[in-house]
Amino acid sequence: MESTATPRLDGVPQDTVQSFTATRVAVQRTLDGFCARWLGDLAPLTAEAIRYALLGEGKRLRAILLLEAYRACGGTGNALDLAASVEVVHAYSLVHDDLPCMDDDDVRRGRPTVHRVYGVPVATAAGLAMVPLATRSAWYGAMQLGLSSTVAGDIVRDLMRASGGGGMIGGQLLDLEAEGRTMSLEDLERVHRLKTGALIMASVTVGARAAHAGEARIDALARYGASIGLAFQIADDVLDITATTDELGKTAGRDLDLHKSTYPALLGVDGAVERAVALVDDACAALQDEGLLTPTLEFLARYIVERRS
Ligand code: IPE
Ligand code: IPE
Ligand code: MG
Ligand code: MG
Ligand code: MG
Repeated sequence: MESTATPRLDGVPQDTVQSFTATRVAVQRTLDGFCARWLGDLAPLTAEAIRYALLGEGKRLRAILLLEAYRACGGTGNALDLAASVEVVHAYSLVHDDLPCMDDDDVRRGRPTVHRVYGVPVATAAGLAMVPLATRSAWYGAMQLGLSSTVAGDIVRDLMRASGGGGMIGGQLLDLEAEGRTMSLEDLERVHRLKTGALIMASVTVGARAAHAGEARIDALARYGASIGLAFQIADDVLDITATTDELGKTAGRDLDLHKSTYPALLGVDGAVERAVALVDDACAALQDEGLLTPTLEFLARYIVERRS
């Protein structure tokens, strides 16, 4: 799989790409630290399954978005522990998404899924255990930055709201319920905004809150996050049919097998890509109004739709 390769996008300055790659490496190292710090209380096999889920070769996009939103809002501290907590929620969502009762997938991040290695009960428990661990580590990350309890509370609230019934889990349930029937574009957009968009949006609002951004800036980043979050899942739907299992590190063509409604199924590949590109433009425009459109946040928005994995 190609997730650790340096991405190439036409016209993007080399130092922007290099800093993206360096941040990804720093996130990876922080996730190693997360495992060392937080897994001690768990049964050894559950801890091992969590380590396996977290340390696989993910793109670390949500953590990078948090860090870049933090920097764009003037943050100068070390927000890596906070950023890692979003990756923990994300990795848990993947463990459960792959379970036989959900998308029943065998491959993730270029290797067998957690339940294929550790069995369904351990994978299920590992995913469940990751949620409170993410909350604790988000609080810890906020304390490391010297944030007040009020700001730390707002951060944990954003993260858990995005993960719950009105966010990621809610979207996942709607996605499962809709298998085998064709959703309207409006309904599909809602599912995508919930199952994937909500956590991506929280990644940037948490970064902004950690930098003590005012409401106007938080709101601009929320609009950026909502647009790139939807674009991310549209691109994921497109890649499911245009990329290979090797490129993706997960089973290509799975949406067709599971009779999922997807953007390319409703709009065609070209129509889906067009919609994703338009969302990237909306995202960048939302930041421009607040003077927050840094080269890296622009690069990340474009990378989301131009990536191959
Ligand atoms: C995959 O997310 C799941 C979706 C929300 C579509 P990513 O494509 O960010 O997965 P990793 O973290 O890079 O493995
Ligand atoms: C998953 O969407 C969204 C979440 C994990 C919350 P998909 O089911 O399309 O993700 P992949 O394609 O398996 O990564
Ligand atoms: Mg799914
Ligand atoms: Mg899936
Ligand atoms: Mg998918």
